[in-house]
Amino acid sequence: MDSTTKSKAVEASIYYDANYGSFDTELYSEIRREAFGEDIGQNSWLTADEQDRFLSWLELSPGKVLLDVACGAGGPAVRIAAKTGCSVVGIDVHEQAVSTACSLAIQRGLGRRAEFRVVDAAQQLPFSENSFDAITCIDAVNHFSDRPRVIAEWARLLNVGGRLLFTDPITLTGPLTNSEVAVRSSAGVYLFVPHGYDERVISQCGLQLLVSEDVTANMAKVAEARRAARASRTAALRDIEGDQAYDGQQEFLDVAARVAREGRLSRFVYVSKKVS
Ligand SMILES: C[S@@+](CC[C@H](N)C(=O)[O-])C[C@H]1O[C@@H](n2cnc3c(N)ncnc32)[C@H](O)[C@@H]1O
Repeated sequence: MDSTTKSKAVEASIYYDANYGSFDTELYSEIRREAFGEDIGQNSWLTADEQDRFLSWLELSPGKVLLDVACGAGGPAVRIAAKTGCSVVGIDVHEQAVSTACSLAIQRGLGRRAEFRVVDAAQQLPFSENSFDAITCIDAVNHFSDRPRVIAEWARLLNVGGRLLFTDPITLTGPLTNSEVAVRSSAGVYLFVPHGYDERVISQCGLQLLVSEDVTANMAKVAEARRAARASRTAALRDIEGDQAYDGQQEFLDVAARVAREGRLSRFVYVSKKVS
């Protein structure tokens, strides 16, 4: 990685270290089971039933190749490879997340069909054009400040007929106070966009919009369940994370749940298709 990429990686790590530091321990897995219903190794607002619905829009099958941008610890991408038979490439800027993802793929016997790499996805991506049948980016598009450039880059990488699916959990649909904005954007770069902006950029990038759906309810539910699951294990988590990181996470989840429940900061899923 060059020095610009490194500085972005450090920025992302400030918050995400707390998420990925002990990701594959039994304690964190238990918290995910309680928060999400099923632990698929996610670090987002994605639940297994939601991913199944997303998969019905992606038309993935053996022989096809998916790129998962900002894949985190790889659980969602590995589950897709296992369910559809496709191959997956996951990229994320967090080194520990990528190493957890590599181990998970091997553990699940998917080492040949799942590859994970440390890449700063805010930059031009190290793949040639028309190399993927689908691209996903779950709850991470908000970390890239230049959305038109990022979506144009994804369009470049897709095969004609290929699908792009991303969720944007930082869509403004109501008023936010300055402290809510500060807490909700405490993990590196954050781009808050008005509803409608993503659809415009998708179409400006030459992609045909197929689905635009409000999936805020999942975010409100998971944030609250995750906060509660962590709160019931406070002592153990304080030992691992330290007081400051633990309190920061709890405040983040509390605010994320409240602004979502009240419909002020929303999460949308967009699916689009490369038509030419
Ligand atoms: C909310 S997590 C979502 C992870 C994953 N998509 C999932 O569903 O579990 C956001 C992810 O974005 C990654 N990220 C942040 N900035 C990034 C960047 N510039 N390039 C690549 N990944 C980045 C973080 O490391 C983190 O893993």
